[in-house]
Amino acid sequence: MKLVEPASSPRLAPTFDVERIRADFPILKLKVGGKPLVYLDNAASSQMPRPVIDRLLRYQTTQHANINRAVHYLSETATSEYEESRRKLQCFINAREDKEVIFTSGTTDAINLVMHGYGRKFIGAGDEIILTTLEHHSNIVPWQMLAEEKGAKIRVVPINDAGELLIDEYEKLFNERTKFVGVMHVSNALGTINPVKHMIDFAHARGVPVLIDGAQAAPHLPVDVQALDCDFYAFSGHKLCGPTGIGILYGKAAILERMQPFKGGGDMILSVTFEKTTYNTIPHKFEAGTPPIAAAIGLGAAVDYLSAIGMGRIAAHELDLLNYATEQVNGMPGVRIIGTAEKKAAVLSFAVDGVHPHDVGTLLNEDGIAIRTGHHCAQPVMQRFKVAATSRASFAFYNSMAEVDALIAGIRSVQKVFS
Ligand code: ALA
Repeated sequence: MKLVEPASSPRLAPTFDVERIRADFPILKLKVGGKPLVYLDNAASSQMPRPVIDRLLRYQTTQHANINRAVHYLSETATSEYEESRRKLQCFINAREDKEVIFTSGTTDAINLVMHGYGRKFIGAGDEIILTTLEHHSNIVPWQMLAEEKGAKIRVVPINDAGELLIDEYEKLFNERTKFVGVMHVSNALGTINPVKHMIDFAHARGVPVLIDGAQAAPHLPVDVQALDCDFYAFSGHKLCGPTGIGILYGKAAILERMQPFKGGGDMILSVTFEKTTYNTIPHKFEAGTPPIAAAIGLGAAVDYLSAIGMGRIAAHELDLLNYATEQVNGMPGVRIIGTAEKKAAVLSFAVDGVHPHDVGTLLNEDGIAIRTGHHCAQPVMQRFKVAATSRASFAFYNSMAEVDALIAGIRSVQKVFS
């Protein structure tokens, strides 16, 4: 399937042809223990389509050299492809300028960049940072490190039994010491889509900047950072059909310019003497050393691929999958869904009565079905629901209704084994 046209191309079928899309993913043809692979661990990492694999191969075989360092053909080619990829990411999230897109090694790296670059400069003793119960550890631990270093305080937005943020409580947490808000767009453990636009507007009315962890949103929903008006937005490449080791931090230019660098080294400087270093302009100020050039170019190909299908169509198909799976699981005695928010994306966390999630995962694997079991790097969510772990099926646009049926049949077999 050729996916280089824009989403509006008349050559794309009006309906969502999942089989045609699946043909682009070589790994989906795999058999596991003689059974067809049913890959439902997309929240941990998605799979890579042929156009992205081919782009990486073309880069490595015809375009690779270090960037921003030489005038020879390959260096200039790699530099221009790397910067072209930055512009693709800019379009993907509708950032105002390409310099507002910083390549990082992933969401965790992006959040650490904000903590070091913004937090260590602008957050001090007695200041308060608002996070939520839903956060992934990567949007908790860096802020705890900062709070410990500076004597700042972390305030946490609670959730209800459905796994939705209590927005009244969020609003009550603000006071004159509130200096920062960090919130995930979509929960990796439960799938809840948070009302981030309202949360951003509320924080901005009080002069507080907001970081959105978009790791589980960017692969599943159209993201427009200008419409959201967030100060920072972070996501990883490997969750949206790109390579590992790459992700982005979007930041508003005005705020990025006021921040201090996170890592020091080559490329992030304009001049260096032993007396004084002058830092480079954004985005280079935050890209010290040789970046993951191939991965950044691969990520550009991944967002081309997704944009050609259309993020709106992807979201609609994934919602169909989620609704169908939810309906099926709701009809199964002895299986409970954890996370029943009204607005959800692509994640179905569940508990099977009397069976440890690791046993659920192990038995499903025997049927070729890949899910994640564990705390999903969101232990405060597990504590809130008084469970040590959940079983989590997470969908991508290349999953089919037949794969949901396979999951449901797999859960029934697990119940039989333990009955
Ligand atoms: N954060 C990823 C997950 O939810 C790894 O599985």
